[in-house]
Amino acid sequence: MTVYLVGAGPGDPELITVRGLRLLQHADAVVYDELAPAELLAHVPADAVLVSRAGLRQEQINALLVSLGRSYPTVVRLKGGDPFLFGRGREESDALTAAGLDCEVVPGVSALTAVPAAAGIPLTHRGLASQITVVTGHTADDRQLDYRALAHTAGTLVVFMGIARLSALVAGLIAAGRAPDTPAAVISSGSTERQQTIIAPLHQIAAHADGVPSPALVIIGPTAALARDQQTLEPPVGVAAG
Ligand SMILES: C[S@@+](CC[C@H](N)C(=O)[O-])C[C@H]1O[C@@H](n2cnc3c(N)ncnc32)[C@H](O)[C@@H]1O
Repeated sequence: MTVYLVGAGPGDPELITVRGLRLLQHADAVVYDELAPAELLAHVPADAVLVSRAGLRQEQINALLVSLGRSYPTVVRLKGGDPFLFGRGREESDALTAAGLDCEVVPGVSALTAVPAAAGIPLTHRGLASQITVVTGHTADDRQLDYRALAHTAGTLVVFMGIARLSALVAGLIAAGRAPDTPAAVISSGSTERQQTIIAPLHQIAAHADGVPSPALVIIGPTAALARDQQTLEPPVGVAAG
């Protein structure tokens, strides 16, 4: 009996790994995230147990996985992107191991690399960026980001779960010394047919990206200016073009 924590990839159903897809095709039970592409569920055997984790707290998900892991030979926990990148994968594997169950992590293609790539943005680029800093805009204990440190990191800053607090994030970075004209991009539903890419200088990005739906990734740094196929939006009223 094994519970597999499988990374489903960033949104495009073709971007799951071969191993992840094979496990789905042989699963007896699947617990899936909202972020995992719904199309992948078509590969699950018709008689498998399918459970959405929507509305469940982390402890409830852990308990569900333990219970399913004790009842079925092959359980897949299908998670958006990669299970170990802002995915609480280790919390789940710890709960399973503590319950005496076997658990294997099957890495996935993370939004970290796939979403900028889908928008034509390289995270590193010779002469522009040779360093990447990855943060979450939303921490479990609601702590503020270390703006002083972030404002002075070279290269590309990638912010997960940052769209809801984008104005505060931008204000914090600029107040701490980041240049207001630093290129920035917001990519919503990257790698899917709903993908939207918005680019603007840092000081205007929050206004331009207002109302953009989740999931969205924020990229700040010189390579953001290399985005392709970005949406050409009129600047919102009160925001100067530039
Ligand atoms: C809880 S984190 C999960 C990250 C995931 N484990 C990974 O490796 O991609 C969810 C955040 O990832 C980012 N994200 C995930 N999929 C995305 C997508 N298709 N387009 C843009 N951002 C995405 C967003 O910032 C979203 O709020």
